[in-house]
Formats: sequence, structure tokens, C-alpha cells
Amino acid sequence: MRSKLIAGNWKMNGSLATNDAWVRDVQLGMRAFHSQKPHVAMCVPAAYLSQVQQLIKGSGIDLGAQDVSAHEQGAYTGEVSAAMLKDFAVRYCLVGHSERRQFQGETDEQVAHKAQRALSAGITPIVCVGETLAEREAGKTQEVVKRQLAAVIHANGHCISEIVVAYEPVWAIGTGQTASPAQAQAVHAVLRAQLNAATSHSDRVHILYGGSMNASNAAELLAQPDIDGGLIGGASLKAADFLTIIAAAAR
Ligand code: PGA
Repeated sequence: MRSKLIAGNWKMNGSLATNDAWVRDVQLGMRAFHSQKPHVAMCVPAAYLSQVQQLIKGSGIDLGAQDVSAHEQGAYTGEVSAAMLKDFAVRYCLVGHSERRQFQGETDEQVAHKAQRALSAGITPIVCVGETLAEREAGKTQEVVKRQLAAVIHANGHCISEIVVAYEPVWAIGTGQTASPAQAQAVHAVLRAQLNAATSHSDRVHILYGGSMNASNAAELLAQPDIDGGLIGGASLKAADFLTIIAAAAR
């Protein structure tokens, strides 16, 4: 069985002072988990990679980034390359988060290239997929998530078993409206089948659920057979809530 992966996503939140306090609190709380703890990662704003890299040394928390350029290097003002992330020992990088698809107009193809860049730098891309409310209501959930994942599978061939997938229904992100465990499990099973068809090593791939996962609903969601962890936004900002979610994954 895959051990669970709990990844936080601070989004555009944090400061030197609050990051410092957060890492101290989580580090302290994680001591209670001993060897049963799940894998834990925190995807932080690029500006804080260096700070958090130093703070988490020896803590068992892995460093994550929230985006990566689809280009290798050069005249792309404001972008951060996979090689630069690697310089800060980044282990995971979100690609195709719905906020970037929505506000930066990222396409499936761009997301697939970003996943490729991350993989070639030795960084695990956490590929985010998910349908909008309108798409769910139109009965298009499966079609949308399969299309989004297919682009990444197509561009990454045999490396596909090295990715992490995060199913994040857009209507559940930051809204307090979580997908029910059954709704989430149904989509995870579809994604799992798609990965099985793409690679014989699909059992390595973690499929995370994200979208208003919190301290009260995490245990139920994480108990589903195809939910291998969580991608947590709002609830990752409070150390106590994040620790409760880690504890739910440690069971
Ligand atoms: P949320 O965000 O937990 O605040 O809903 C999840 C995400 O966007 O990754």
C-alpha cells in the first residue's frame, strides 16, 4: 500500500515571521508521530523557498513549489525554472493548479510541459486536475479530468509513474464545500484506471484529494481506497489544523 502524502499549499500567504512560527509548531507536533507519519510537504511561495528550506532541515517535511516555468531558461521575465527550484532542494512542484488555469489561462499543453520540466530536473510534479461546478452539473466531470490528465500522460510517456496527481474539484476549493468521500472516490477510481492503462507502474502514483479538506473531514476522505493523501490550502495555514490532518493520514 502507498503511504499517504499530505501536501500543504500556502498559496500567496505567509511572511518571514509567520513562516518561522508555522514550521516550529508543525515540527514540534510531528515528533508525536514517530515512524507512522505520512509523507509531508509544504508548497510555499517562490519568495520563501530559501527561508523554508533552511527552517525545515531535519524536520521530515519536504519542500514544494507552487508553479514552474514551462521553459528551460532565458528571456522569460518573472518566471522560475525547474533548475532554480532544484537549487533550493525542492522535491515537489504543483502544476496546473486551477487558480493558474483560471487566472493565468494555463492550458492542458502548458501544464504538460511544466510537468515535463519538473520531471527532467528531478522534481515530482503534483499535477492538479478538476472540474468546475458547471462542468459537474453538465455531467462532464470524468471527461474534463481525463482530458487534463491525458495531456500530461501524452507528453511524459514512461515517466508518468513519477508524477503525483491531485484531484481538486474547482467548486470545492476554498469554498468550504468538500466533495463527499463517495464523490471524490468515484473520480479517483477513474484517474487510477487511466493511470493503469498508461503504465505498468501506476501503483506508485499517489492520487491526492484537494478542495476544502480540513481537520474535521480529512479522516473520512483519507479512508477511501483510492485517496492517497491530500492537497490542503486554507487548513494548511494553521499548524494545529494541518497537524490534525497529518494525524488522520497516519492512522
Ligand atoms: P483549499 O485549497 O484547501 O483551501 O480548498 C486547496 C487547493 O487549492 O490546493
